[in-house]
Amino acid sequence: MSDVVKEIKSLKKKKNAIIVAHNYQYPEIQDIADFVGDSLELAKKASELKNDIIVFCGVIFMAETAKILAPDKKVLLPVKTAGCPMADMINAEQLAELKKQHPKAKVVTYVNSNAEVKALTDVCCTSANAVKIVQNIDADEIIFVPDKNLGAYCQRFTEKKIILWDGHCYVHNRISPSEVREAKTQLPDAPLLVHPECTSQVIDLADAVLSTAGMLKYVKEHNANRFIVATEEGIIHRMKKENPNKQFYSAGTAKFCVNMKKTKLSNVLESLENEQFEIVVDKEIAKKAKASLDKMLEYL
Ligand code: 13P
Ligand code: SF4
Repeated sequence: MSDVVKEIKSLKKKKNAIIVAHNYQYPEIQDIADFVGDSLELAKKASELKNDIIVFCGVIFMAETAKILAPDKKVLLPVKTAGCPMADMINAEQLAELKKQHPKAKVVTYVNSNAEVKALTDVCCTSANAVKIVQNIDADEIIFVPDKNLGAYCQRFTEKKIILWDGHCYVHNRISPSEVREAKTQLPDAPLLVHPECTSQVIDLADAVLSTAGMLKYVKEHNANRFIVATEEGIIHRMKKENPNKQFYSAGTAKFCVNMKKTKLSNVLESLENEQFEIVVDKEIAKKAKASLDKMLEYL
């Protein structure tokens, strides 16, 4: 065990802290985390924790969601600038304007969004429950923000009118149908797992469309020996670790989320040492945003 890892472990104990990490984090971060998961699992976990400090290895919207769901905890993001560009593709003013244009519509917001946007939302969703929420929400018209790809994917499962916003994830948008087709030709027996943030042309090629946690469950339960994975490459570490006899391939060139990859072990150590960078959410905004997240958790 390296000195940094030893120090992290000892500080964590001393400060009654817990380290949670998203499935896209570097292998060494996933390995020191107490819990690794997708956005939904991390949100649920945050709402249940008893620790005083949550060190969130992920991006800003995830740590903010944890703070909103666990307002009494100190939530730390080891790298202040680890944002999600998609979350910044819509702001509160833009959503307010959209609501004015569609007064009868209910708003379903992907958790990859900022707290101010969540505060104007009826129900939040993640990639794991978006289809279910869109199908079950009591409205014929739905404003879906910010991810147009996830929103369009949901539209496949409902007659309701979904009003899309022009946001996207640059990491998943970069996965091209031609490289995915090529991967399928090279590995014809390998099921293709696709994240719903991918474009509809890539989704059309999928054997299964799943959140990152859904992918991990699928590869564990499916009897194939090899799999093609169309999402950020970080997830392959856990896939290999949990399924040492199976093989995993990125669909085309490996895709990296620069912001997910900002967090290094040294940042986690500094975060614990200096209790930085603390996530603070305005109380009024947090209260409204929490209602839309609580609503999401009721749909489970
Ligand atoms: P998951 O909730 O499926 O882990 O996805 C989060 C994310 O940011 C995907 O880009
Ligand atoms: Fe945001 Fe895409 Fe990175 Fe996920 S992979 S955090 S959606 S930029």
